[in-house]
Amino acid sequence: MIKIAPSILAADPINLERDVHRAEEAGCDWLHIDVMDAHFVPNLAYSPEVVRRLKAVCRTPLDVHLMLDHPEQMLDTFLEAGADVLTVHAEIDANVPEILKRIRHSGALAGVALKPGTPFEAIRDYLEKADLILAMTVEPGFGGQKLDGRVPEKIAQIQKSGYNGLIEADGGIYENNLPMLAEKGLTVAVMGTAIFGATDMRETIERLHRI
Ligand code: DX5
Ligand code: ZN
Repeated sequence: MIKIAPSILAADPINLERDVHRAEEAGCDWLHIDVMDAHFVPNLAYSPEVVRRLKAVCRTPLDVHLMLDHPEQMLDTFLEAGADVLTVHAEIDANVPEILKRIRHSGALAGVALKPGTPFEAIRDYLEKADLILAMTVEPGFGGQKLDGRVPEKIAQIQKSGYNGLIEADGGIYENNLPMLAEKGLTVAVMGTAIFGATDMRETIERLHRI
């Protein structure tokens, strides 16, 4: 069954606790938390303190996506705050394999993310260090965008490579394109608008789980 990870970027920030509890009661598998520094991406989003407070009130694993130029400076902070999955981007100017090693060493799952235009080859040398590959299906930064048509083939390529970790996609995923992504090998779907904008969240997640 595909794991459904609602992205809290699409939740109501002043009613975050209410919204994450709605998502948990509706049967989500993970909660996806975007962290943005206004440099790596042109937007700002959730701080370590928000992760720490969510950890205290949520029973669902927290999937933290770091869109930062220098995630290596914030790893310990987000791990201590309670990230269960911590993902950094392959495009940064830092030692990504070393970062993945540090995340894994803490007991969390280590993820590496690729922007839509970054080829799978960029991470081939250190695949065994990643528990999860996040193939961004939109340019990171904002919710509500359209899925980039180049990415499904990249997901198929990751699966065909024999990679046996989790394959996650993030951005522009809805009920109508999830079956296609699942067929390519997707195992975790991050969905913001499609979940928090649903009229019946529970029914929506139930249908998504049947895909
Ligand atoms: C985009 C974020 C996504 C975003 C997805 O940079 O990483 O998590 O919230 O939102 P939707 O599902 O609305 O495209
Ligand atoms: Zn994300």
